[in-house]
Amino acid sequence: MDKERKKRPIGTKGVRAGLAERDLRHIWHPYTQMKDCESMPPIPLAKARGIKLFTPDGSYYYDTISSWWCNVHGHCHPHIVRAIRQQARRLDHVLFAGFTHEPAVKLAERLTAIAPKGLSKVFFSDNGSTAVEVALKLSVQFWQMKGKPDKRCFLGLDRGYHGDTFGAMSVSGVDLYNKRFEPMFFRAFKAPAPYCYRCASGMGGVGCSLNCLAEMEKILKRYHEKIAAIILEPMFLGAGGMIVYPALYLKKTAELAKKYKVHLILDEVASGFGRTGKMFASEHAGVSPDIMCVSKGLTSGYLPLAATLVKEELFRAFYGDFDKFKTFYHGHTYTANPIACAAANASLDVFDMEGSLDNVGLINRSLKSFLSDMSGLGIVGDTRCIGVVGALELVKDKSTKCSFGPKRRIGQEIYRAGLLRNLLLRPLGDIVYFFLPLSARQRELNEIFEKASEVIYEINSCS
Ligand SMILES: Cc1ncc(COP(=O)(O)O)c(C=O)c1O
Repeated sequence: MDKERKKRPIGTKGVRAGLAERDLRHIWHPYTQMKDCESMPPIPLAKARGIKLFTPDGSYYYDTISSWWCNVHGHCHPHIVRAIRQQARRLDHVLFAGFTHEPAVKLAERLTAIAPKGLSKVFFSDNGSTAVEVALKLSVQFWQMKGKPDKRCFLGLDRGYHGDTFGAMSVSGVDLYNKRFEPMFFRAFKAPAPYCYRCASGMGGVGCSLNCLAEMEKILKRYHEKIAAIILEPMFLGAGGMIVYPALYLKKTAELAKKYKVHLILDEVASGFGRTGKMFASEHAGVSPDIMCVSKGLTSGYLPLAATLVKEELFRAFYGDFDKFKTFYHGHTYTANPIACAAANASLDVFDMEGSLDNVGLINRSLKSFLSDMSGLGIVGDTRCIGVVGALELVKDKSTKCSFGPKRRIGQEIYRAGLLRNLLLRPLGDIVYFFLPLSARQRELNEIFEKASEVIYEINSCS
């Protein structure tokens, strides 16, 4: 081996090119048409602090979407960083079958203490989709063991989103992401989304009689013997368009689940950990699900971790002698990784130390005021908001609510215009949204919304 080769880390030949160029030689990015990178290569980042992402030359972007809805307390929070460092020195990783450790036990104790009533057992995994897969499989196996093997369909929502694995896609309802794989999905019924702006009954949330719920009941009435569980995102549908819906809808759905004897799975992967102003979004409706999925904000976005929480009755059904074959045969290599659990515990500490939930009110007021300022513009069809989540739905024609569509790519225009003003805005199609960390300060919010207003005005003026 020559001298130079010996010094160079493996695989770093020809690394003098810029980071973006090197990236594009080998990396395939998620949710990205890679051809777009010809004109918009990935932006190299060197560090992050609080709500800001810094490039190597010291310029920054406001992370207005909490890096895909994960970051709760700001980037590189010293308390969480310290906890990760300390845990990495003590115990890095261990299989979670036959062994346990303090970070996981402590986290399970804390999660069950703050979760909605009755959720007493925690099954760890490592991302939102797997938390959902676990929930679906638990529900199906439960009904099999109760002598009801026909209960193996699910009921989800149009525009619901639960992840990108096959089970999660089957119960989701966002065609843009899933349609291609539909032939391989298992059967899942879809009820209309509680999408007030595009309400099929034309109520638009005013004097609402929850007609969309009647559709759900129709499905349950007819098929409840085949349905294992209803799955939905509590209080707002995230990837489906940040569609905020009334707490009463959630409450009534929980009642329907009880009435028709199907499990209620609440997917709090996006909404959990304070995003709606409550620790868990189901609290707005006083609902306690049979199964709850969490991830993303669980570690405040520092490391991948997820958990599926279940009620005692469900857990008990799986408990028995080995030869009764009630074991739940599911697990992931990184289940309850100690460093990830330590990050999650540290994130929960920060909630206490900084009173993070108390800051949601301030963020929400700023968001609402910005949305209200924008609502009169010609391209703004609808605005919606809950906690630190707020969205503007852009339309080509306000009177017909006609969308811009994929040719115009207005979301891409917003993205580019945002970057020019130090803002990371990554619209979902025609929906511009904010998903702010709970740590955002007034001064930062003022700057973010001032710049965002410039972006929206600019796009409005050339539309
Ligand atoms: C509500 C919800 N469930 C599940 C998922 C999937 O999580 P992951 O991307 O970690 O698999 C997401 C991701 O955005 C989500 O918003």
